[in-house]
Amino acid sequence: MDIKQVEFCVSSSKISQCPKDRRAEYAFIGRSNVGKSSLINLLANNKKLAHTSGKPGKTQLINHFLVDQEWYLVDLPGYGYAKVSKTSRHKFQKMIEDYILERENLVNLFVLIDSRIPPQKIDLEFIEWLGENEVPFSMVFTKIDKLKNNQLNKNLKVYNKTLLEAWAQLPMQFSTSAETGAGKAEILSYIHQINQQL
Ligand code: GTP
Ligand code: MG
Repeated sequence: MDIKQVEFCVSSSKISQCPKDRRAEYAFIGRSNVGKSSLINLLANNKKLAHTSGKPGKTQLINHFLVDQEWYLVDLPGYGYAKVSKTSRHKFQKMIEDYILERENLVNLFVLIDSRIPPQKIDLEFIEWLGENEVPFSMVFTKIDKLKNNQLNKNLKVYNKTLLEAWAQLPMQFSTSAETGAGKAEILSYIHQINQQL
């Protein structure tokens, strides 16, 4: 189920600027530098589609990419980047929150988590907020090429144990690497499955 064609559509700072059609969209969120833009490029087979950077805070707007004329991949700015002023952090937060709560096209949000580190308060709080607002989401553990398999499994176990303290059920989860392509087929097939049910 590979993607055949992807084109950049628009960068928006608020949802009134987002595409006006009713196509389904899948957005990617998570801490700055977790690998959102890189994952979108992996899914789209195009390393230059979404801009990536070694420095956090690269993506600053809501970016829509139209896939096969049928649905959108949406790259969002990261949260939790300490090196921006309070005002601009607040602005980003509002942009992300409005998008997630109000964008009717959004059918699933992928929450990206760095697979190398223990559960972070900011991610757990964000996931809790999604739950409170009944936002449909899945989780993606990124950068798994940087870990040995047994370490990855250990980290996932710790993460899920933490999640199960607050949740009765675990959300759908993926493990990915923008370097090796791991997880790409699984995410695309999940998206296609949802698209077919719409
Ligand atoms: P912001 O736009 O700043 O919020 O960041 P982002 O989440 O879009 O991250 P981005 O895709 O720009 O990647 C950040 C850095 O992590 C870049 O240096 C990427 O090359 C690197 N990176 C992303 N995904 C992977 C991965 O799967 N494996 C490895 N080894 N590096 C990755
Ligand atoms: Mg980015």
